Amino acid sequence: MDTSPTADTSPTAPAAVGRRRLLTGGALTLGGALAGAGLGTAVRRPARAVDRPPEYGRHQVPFHGPHQAGIDTPAQAHGVFLGFDLADGTDRAALGRMMRVLTDDAVRLTRGEPALADTEPELAALPARLTVTFGFGPGLFRAAGLDDRRPASLEPLPPFAVDRLQDRWCGGDLLIQICADDPLTVAHAQRMLIKDARTFARLRWAQRGFRNGRGMQDEATTQRNLMGQIDGTANPAPAGDIFTRAVWTDTGPDWLHGGTTLVLRRIRMELKTWDVADTRAKEFSVGRTLGTGAPLTGSAEHDVPDFDAKDSLGFPVIPDFAHIRRAHVADPRLRIFRRPYNYDDAPAPDGTPDTGLLFASFQRDIAEQFLPVQRTLAASDQLNQWTTPIGSAVFAVPPGCEPGGWIGQTLLG
Ligand code: HEM
Repeated sequence: MDTSPTADTSPTAPAAVGRRRLLTGGALTLGGALAGAGLGTAVRRPARAVDRPPEYGRHQVPFHGPHQAGIDTPAQAHGVFLGFDLADGTDRAALGRMMRVLTDDAVRLTRGEPALADTEPELAALPARLTVTFGFGPGLFRAAGLDDRRPASLEPLPPFAVDRLQDRWCGGDLLIQICADDPLTVAHAQRMLIKDARTFARLRWAQRGFRNGRGMQDEATTQRNLMGQIDGTANPAPAGDIFTRAVWTDTGPDWLHGGTTLVLRRIRMELKTWDVADTRAKEFSVGRTLGTGAPLTGSAEHDVPDFDAKDSLGFPVIPDFAHIRRAHVADPRLRIFRRPYNYDDAPAPDGTPDTGLLFASFQRDIAEQFLPVQRTLAASDQLNQWTTPIGSAVFAVPPGCEPGGWIGQTLLG
């Protein structure tokens, strides 16, 4: 190879073109030849109606209703979870003022209208299915003098042997979950809502995540996480009967009825070691295949796993410590609803990925539903070799409100 200073190393040098030809399968060469011969337009297909962009940016999700949006809403492509600490002196009355202001601006933004004091009103024009969902951490009840109305199991999760928690991703008195199909929409809503909250609360953490872009595939397709697994297959279907019974709170303090609880775990994926594991080990760890997401006892994604099936040697086909066996809950009312986002922050200088899952789990009651599953998984789950919880927070998620009302009114009003 010529390394002399005069060698042409520009991107259009013959070597670079050759490399690009390899990557494009020769299409570049054909296009270039046609363009050179003045024939570029001759092969261009006429634009068809279906080629027009679908204008997902204008789609709206209603803010008002019996439940807050952003839970049974099909997950949007982008999301940010904001955790706040309340400022000293933010009492019940101040919390009521804060929630009125936040609700008011959330309503506007989800309609594609500017926030009340919007400094960039143009950025509000595309709601892109924006949802804003509020949650109350344990400390908010103490600040409001309402600890007696806190759901009994709303307290920091007990420590688990698998945890390597970092304080910077834990706790929080107030949660704002912002989701939309456009990252610009999320960024603008985040900026407006942080401004609204700033006299009452300080940002403790912000956790950004993403899923496949909208329109990338059929919306019924289960997405993959960054370990490459099809993730979400056995989730209760939003708005279905199982979902309703497992997610919307109907016991405990009255004010939370129609609401739910959220456990947010930041779970790092150990991709360096996952990369060197073989496919079989990866599939055994979950109990499903990587290709189709089918259980190891079936051939299609939605086949029901047969946890009793044995191989010719008498070993369980879905291993004893496979994630889906350990996480499976038979009683529909005790299931959890997972609405995770992937995160992929800047890698370390040596290239180590900072990648994982913002594991968001919604359920009526944390002690009845989330904790038993988490305990079982922490005790033994083959997937634990490659996943490490580094953040943890819990919130009560109040019910929705009607026009003129505000989120949290049933508790703080
Ligand atoms: C980074 C961490 C995790 C990854 C990569 C992961 C991945 C998966 C995958 C690939 C499946 C199979 C497909 C599906 O049904 O979605 C699954 C199922 C499931 N996971 Fe996880 N998971 C993680 C953490 C957790 C945690 C922390 C919990 C609960 C505490 C959990 C609860 C469940 C449940 C309930 C199922 C369905 C089990 C069934 O009934 O078949 N997962 N997970």
